[in-house]
Amino acid sequence: MSGQANEAPSESGSLLLAIETSCDETSVAVVRGGREVLSNVVSSQIDTHRQFGGVVPEIASRKHVETMTIIIEEAVREAGVSLTDIDAVAVTQGPGLIGALLVGVVAAKSLALALDVPLIGTHHIAGHIYANSLVGDIIYPSIALVVSGGHTEIVLLEAEGKFRIIGRTRDDAVGEAYDKVARALKFPYPGGPHVDKLAQEATEEVVLPRSWLEPDSYDFSFSGLKSAVLAEINRSRMKGEAPDFSALARGFQQSVIDVVTGKAIRAAKEFGARQMMLCGGVAANRGLRERLAALCEEAGVPLLIPPNKLCTDNAAMIAAAADLKWRRGQFSSLDLKAEAVMSLEDWSV
Ligand code: KG4
Ligand code: ZN
Repeated sequence: MSGQANEAPSESGSLLLAIETSCDETSVAVVRGGREVLSNVVSSQIDTHRQFGGVVPEIASRKHVETMTIIIEEAVREAGVSLTDIDAVAVTQGPGLIGALLVGVVAAKSLALALDVPLIGTHHIAGHIYANSLVGDIIYPSIALVVSGGHTEIVLLEAEGKFRIIGRTRDDAVGEAYDKVARALKFPYPGGPHVDKLAQEATEEVVLPRSWLEPDSYDFSFSGLKSAVLAEINRSRMKGEAPDFSALARGFQQSVIDVVTGKAIRAAKEFGARQMMLCGGVAANRGLRERLAALCEEAGVPLLIPPNKLCTDNAAMIAAAADLKWRRGQFSSLDLKAEAVMSLEDWSV
C-alpha cells in the first residue's frame, strides 16, 4: 500500500465508510470510532454461484458492479448519516479475486475523491482479525486463528496492528477443504455449514489422519485429509456398500478441529498470549468454537469470537482494521492498486 503519514485526526468518533468486495459478498458499512457499527449491509452472491459449485470470478465482479451503488446508499441511509458526514473511506485492497477487488477499490477512490476525505487501503485478513475489536477489547500479545474459505493462518499480534504470521496452510484453506469434502458428500456450495451439521449429528466416526507436519511447525495441510475422505468413499463403493456420510463428516471435522485448535493453543503458550481470537467464515463452526473455548479455558487464555455475521466477509470488519491506520494518519494515495496477493505483515501499522 502506498501510504503517507499525515497528522492523526483528533476526534474519537470519526465516521469511516468501508467497502468490501474481495470475493462474493458486496458489503458496505458505516462505523463510528472504529468500534460502533452504525450499519453493515452485506449482499451475498451465493445463490448465483451455487449453480456452478463455487465462486466464478468474472460473475462476482459483474455482480459487485451491479450492486455497489445501491449498497453504499443503503449503508449510509441505515446508519442515519449523510455522505458528507463521512471522515474517511476504507476499502479492501487485497488479498482476493482481482476483478472483484477492483470494483470496490474504484468505488472507494471515487467516493474519497468526491468527498475530499482520506482513502485507507485495508488488508482483508486484518479485517477478519479486527472484527474481534467490534465485540471486545483485544489484549496483547494475542494469537489469532484465521480460518476462512481462502485463508488458514495463525497470526501473532505482539502489539496493536503488528501482524506476524507464524503458521499458514501449505495447500487448501480449511474452508476450501470443507467445501470440497461437502461436494463429495453431495452438499451444495458453500458446504461448510452442512458438513458441520452432519458431523454434530453423527453417532459414528470414521477416524481419519491428523496432519501435524513437522513437530515444531505451525503450518497446516488439508489436501491429504480431503483425499482421505474421497478414498473412504471409493473404498465403500468398491465393496458395494453405501458410504456412511455422517461418520465421514464427523471424522473429517474431528481431524480439522484437533489440528487447528492444537496448533493455536501451542502457539498461545509458546508466545505467552494473553488472549486468543478466532475469526474467518469457518469460525461459525460449532465444533471448532466449542473445542477452542474448552482448550482456552484449560490454558487460562481468554477467547474472543465475533458473532457469525462478523465472521463471514463484511465491511464493518474492514472499518475496524482501517481504524488502526486512521488513528495514525496512515492514508493511501489515490493511485492505490488492488492486490490479489498482499502481505499482512507489511500492512502492519
Ligand atoms: O471468511 P469467509 O466468509 O470467506 C472467505 O474470505 O473465504 O469464509 C467462507 C467459508 C466457506 O468455505 C464456508 O464453507 C465456510 O467458511 N464455513 C464453514 C461454516 N460456515 C461457513 N465451514 C465449516 N463450518 C461452518 N459452520
Ligand atoms: Zn474473508
